[in-house]
Amino acid sequence: MKAKLLWYFLILILTFGCNKPQKTRTVENFNSNWLFSLEPKKDNSNFKQIDTVWRELNLPHDWSIEGDFNETNPATYNGGALPGGTGWYKKTFKIEESDKLKEFYIDFDGVYMNSEVWINNHYLGKRPNGYIGFRYNLTPYLNFGENENEIKVKVDNSQQPNSRWYSGSGIYRNVWLVKTNKLHINNWGTFVTTPIVTLDSATVNLETSITNNYKEAKNILLKTIVLFNNEKITENSNHLNITTKNELTFSEKLNVKSPKLWSIENPQLYKILSEIYIDNQLVDTYETPFGIRTFKFDLDKGFMLNNKSVKIKGVCNHHDLGALGAAVNKRALERQLEILKEMGVNGIRTSHNPPAPELLDLCDKMGFIVMDESFDVWNNTKAKYDYAINWKEWHKKDLEDFIKRDRNHPSVFIWSIGNEIQEQWNEQGVTTAKELKAIVRNLDTTRLITAGMNPPVNMENQEVTLQFDKANVTYNALAASGVLDLIGYNYAHQTYEYHKQNFPNTPFIATETTSGLQTRGYYDQKSDTLKRWPVRWDIPFDGGNSDNTISSYDQVSTPWGSTHEETWKVIKKHDFLSGMFIWTGFDYLGEPTPYVWPSRSSYFGVIDLAGFPKDVYYMYQSEWTDKPVLHIFPHWNWEIGKDVDIWAYYSQADEVELFLNNKSLGAKKKEGDDLHIMWRVPFQPGTLKAISRKDGKEILVKEIKTAEKPAQISFNADRNTIKSDSVDLSYITVSILDKNGTLVPNATNNIQFKIEGPGKIVGVDNGDPTSHASFKASDRNAFYGKCLVIVQSLNSEGIIKLSAQSQGLEDSSININVNNK
Ligand code: GAL
Repeated sequence: MKAKLLWYFLILILTFGCNKPQKTRTVENFNSNWLFSLEPKKDNSNFKQIDTVWRELNLPHDWSIEGDFNETNPATYNGGALPGGTGWYKKTFKIEESDKLKEFYIDFDGVYMNSEVWINNHYLGKRPNGYIGFRYNLTPYLNFGENENEIKVKVDNSQQPNSRWYSGSGIYRNVWLVKTNKLHINNWGTFVTTPIVTLDSATVNLETSITNNYKEAKNILLKTIVLFNNEKITENSNHLNITTKNELTFSEKLNVKSPKLWSIENPQLYKILSEIYIDNQLVDTYETPFGIRTFKFDLDKGFMLNNKSVKIKGVCNHHDLGALGAAVNKRALERQLEILKEMGVNGIRTSHNPPAPELLDLCDKMGFIVMDESFDVWNNTKAKYDYAINWKEWHKKDLEDFIKRDRNHPSVFIWSIGNEIQEQWNEQGVTTAKELKAIVRNLDTTRLITAGMNPPVNMENQEVTLQFDKANVTYNALAASGVLDLIGYNYAHQTYEYHKQNFPNTPFIATETTSGLQTRGYYDQKSDTLKRWPVRWDIPFDGGNSDNTISSYDQVSTPWGSTHEETWKVIKKHDFLSGMFIWTGFDYLGEPTPYVWPSRSSYFGVIDLAGFPKDVYYMYQSEWTDKPVLHIFPHWNWEIGKDVDIWAYYSQADEVELFLNNKSLGAKKKEGDDLHIMWRVPFQPGTLKAISRKDGKEILVKEIKTAEKPAQISFNADRNTIKSDSVDLSYITVSILDKNGTLVPNATNNIQFKIEGPGKIVGVDNGDPTSHASFKASDRNAFYGKCLVIVQSLNSEGIIKLSAQSQGLEDSSININVNNK
C-alpha cells in the first residue's frame, strides 16, 4: 500500500512539478544596497588601494543634488552651480549554484557620465555618454554559490563644463540584473511595426533577435502571442534552427482584426509576448508593448494621427526632476506629465538627449506625441568638455542603441538627430546629417527625421529673414540640403507663415519656441519705475530687477524667442504648421537666462521647478483644452491707489465681468486673435471677483481677496495614499494662509517639517530660481506664499504624519497612508 502511495506521489510530482512554468528570464531591479564614495583619494581602478569612506545607498542616485550651490563649481550657473567630481559605486551579491548554466547581464539605464564598470576586478568597459542605456554580460566572470561577486562602477563627471544645463552625476537611472537561459532574446531584441492599418485589420510586422550561446545548434519553437488587455488576440508559431554561438533575426507577420487604435485621448496598448521553447520546454519569455496607429505630416494639414489632424501642442523638457535632481523616479515623471496633460499638452520633446525609459513608457500609456532627441552637439563643441570630445568614437553606437531602445514606443513619432548643431551652417553638417540619417533609417523607416535648427535670424539685430535663400546672412545648409524629412525650427516664429514658400515639399514643426521668462507669483506694474516694466525683452538682460525676479505677465522673453501668446497665435492660425514645442514645460536646474549668479535655475518654464503652474499655464489651458477656464491674476495685495493690471484667461464663455468689492469694473471680451483681457485698476483692498458668462449664463466665478498677515499653514497632497515600496512619492504643497484662509501672496515664512511613520522627506523646494538652500533639507522658506515637500515611502505599511512648524503660525500636519496595494 505504502509503495503504491509513493508511486502516486511520484507521478503527481512528475505531472505537475515538471510542467510547472519555469522562470525563464528574470529581470531583477538591482538598485538596492550599493556603496558609494565621492572623490576617493586614489583615483584608479584598483579599489584595494583606495582608502576611503563608503556610504550605503539605493539607486537611482545623483550626488550633485546633495551638494552646495557655489558660483565656483566648474559646472557654472549654467550647469546648476552644483558640484561634479568622480564617484565610485560598488555592490556585492551572490548567485545561486543552481544558476550555473544561466547567463547574467547588468543593464544600466543611464549613468552620468564616463562610466567604467568592473565585475570581480574584470574590466567590462566604459560608456562616455551620460544618457544612453547599456548592458554588460557578467556571465564569464561570476562566482556561484557562497562566493560573493563585486560590481564596481566609476563615474567621472569631473571635467566641466560638459553640459549647457544641469546634468546630475552618478548612476541616476535604474539598474537591472537580467538572468536568461543560454538561448534567449537579445537586449532590445524585438522590433514591431504596423505598416498597414485599416478599420478592419492591422498588419503587425515583428523582428525577433535571438542568441544561442549553447555549444550546439538548437531547434526552437518561437511562439508570438499578441495580447490586448491580457487577452490573446492572435498567435504565430515557427520552428527555427540556430547554430551554435550565433544570432538569428526572425521576421514574421501577424494580423490584428478590428484594431483598437492608439491615440492621445485613448492610448490603447497591445502587447507581444514572445516565447521560446526547446524540446517543449519554455526557455525564454519577452514582452513588447506596442500600439497601432497611422500618422503622417501633411504638407497642408499638418500632423495627422489616425487620419485626423492633430496640432502638436508640445513642450521641451530637460531630464532633471527639480528637488530630486537627475535621480529618476517614475512617479515624479508621471506627476509632471499629469500637470502637463491638465494644461492641454499633447507632445514632449526630450531635449536634448535620450530620456529615461520610464518617460517613454508613461507617454505610451498617457498619450503623448514624443519627439525623441539624440544629441545637442556633434563634432563641434558648445561646452568645453561636452559630447563633441566623444563624437568620433561613439556617435554611431550611441545613435544605434538609442533607436533600438526606443523604436517600439507608439508615442515616438519623430527622431531628432540634433539640436542647434553648430555644423548646420555648413556642408560638414550636411555630410554628418546624411550619415546619421542612414544610421536611423537602417533601424527604423517608420518615423520622420528632423533636427532643431536655427532659422535665418541675424542674432546681432534680431532681424528675421523671411525668405530662405543663399543670400541670407544665416543661410542654413542643413535646412536647405533636403536631408531632413521635417523642417524643424527653433524660434523665429515670424518665418513660420512663409514656410510653404521656403520649403514647398517638406512639412514643418516648430521644434522649440518661445523661451518666455517668468518668476511664479511676481508681477511688475507699469506704475513701477520704467526699469521694472518689462515690455521689452532686454530689460532683465540689461540689469533687470535687483532680486533677479521676472514679471509673470506674459511680456518677457529672450530676444530669440517671443511671448507665449505671439508664437501660439502663429501656430494656431495655419493648419500646415503641425505644432510646436515650448521651451520649456518645467523650469529646470541651470541656464538661468537672462540672469547670472545668484540665479541657478531657469525662468523658462510654464511651470516652476517645484511644479507650481505660472499664470500663463492657464492661457494654454484655455486654448488647448475643452474645459471652461477662468484664471485671473495677479494677487490682490498692493499699495492703496497703485495702478494694477488685472489679466484674465478664459474659455468656453463670451465675456468676463470683473467686480471690485461688488462694484462692476465692466465686462470685457477677447477681440480678434486676443488670448487674454485686461483691466487696469487702482488698488483698493477687498475682493476681486470675475464672472465668465456664455449667452448670459454664468459659467465660472473666481475671487481673489486681499490677504491679511500669515496665520496658518495648509497642506495639499497630490496623493494621500502611496505604495510601501520605498520608491513611491507624495508631493505636498504647503501654502501660507491668513486667518481667513486666503493665500498670503508675498509670504516667505520659514517652515520646518517633521516626519513620523514609514516615510522620509526626499526633497523640499519653492520654485525660487535664486535660492541656495539645499533641496535635501527639512525646512524651506515659502516663495510667493508656497513651498513643496516631497515625501517618499519606506517599505512598510502605516501612516506618515508630516507636521509643519513656523514661528508665529499655527502648527499643522497631514497624514499620508502607505500600503502595499
Ligand atoms: C535654445 C536651446 C535650448 C536653450 C534655449 C534657451 O537655443 O536649444 O537648449 O538653451 O535656447 O532659450
